[in-house]
Amino acid sequence: MTGQQPFRIGVLGSGKGSNFVAIADACAAGKIPAAVAIVLSDVDSACILEHARARQIEARYIPPGRFRTKLDEDAERAFLEALRSAQVDLVVLAGFMRVLKGEFLRAFENHIVNIHPSLLPSFPGLESWKQALDHGVKVTGCTVHFVDAGIDAGPIVGQQTVPVLDADTPETLHARIQVAEHELYPRCVAAVARGEVAVSGRRVVWKAER
Ligand code: GRF
Repeated sequence: MTGQQPFRIGVLGSGKGSNFVAIADACAAGKIPAAVAIVLSDVDSACILEHARARQIEARYIPPGRFRTKLDEDAERAFLEALRSAQVDLVVLAGFMRVLKGEFLRAFENHIVNIHPSLLPSFPGLESWKQALDHGVKVTGCTVHFVDAGIDAGPIVGQQTVPVLDADTPETLHARIQVAEHELYPRCVAAVARGEVAVSGRRVVWKAER
């Protein structure tokens, strides 16, 4: 947090935006001491942009450029410029389907968080709920972590468990994980905004509760 200015969040998403909604609503309700300053998407038609506009939050589509899984140099610059001009303190990835690289990571080192639909380090990558079903695990969940150069690999802020039921399909399990995400992510973002967590090497240390 900078002086008396409210803590400012920039959200990046490519899809539905249900985690953005949970976070924006928690900010509006005073449960997170922060404001969502801007929402950016690499997908023109992403619902996350509509959810932001419905809440009078600045929302912009930025073309991602020529690559499929990352931003190209121009796009990376445009995303960074938008976040800087919105004076963002923390970048929150909410279903952003591109890997962030070099300059972006350096610009917001230890100031980018992501939510992943498994108990990391199990099942990184895509469709983690299907991976969990395929492996026959009885418990899975979701993880909020700081973002570093690895894939779904940065220091873990928090995790929430979700049972896997015998009758689960990929859809029912994913839906149950998302309910947990909507609790965990606002809680973790609030802790970051309050300065209650610090990165120490590979780990996140939670300072004593006030
Ligand atoms: C979530 O399941 C999250 O774990 C993953 O992408 C999904 C985004 O969902 N990173 P939504 O767009 O927030 O609804």
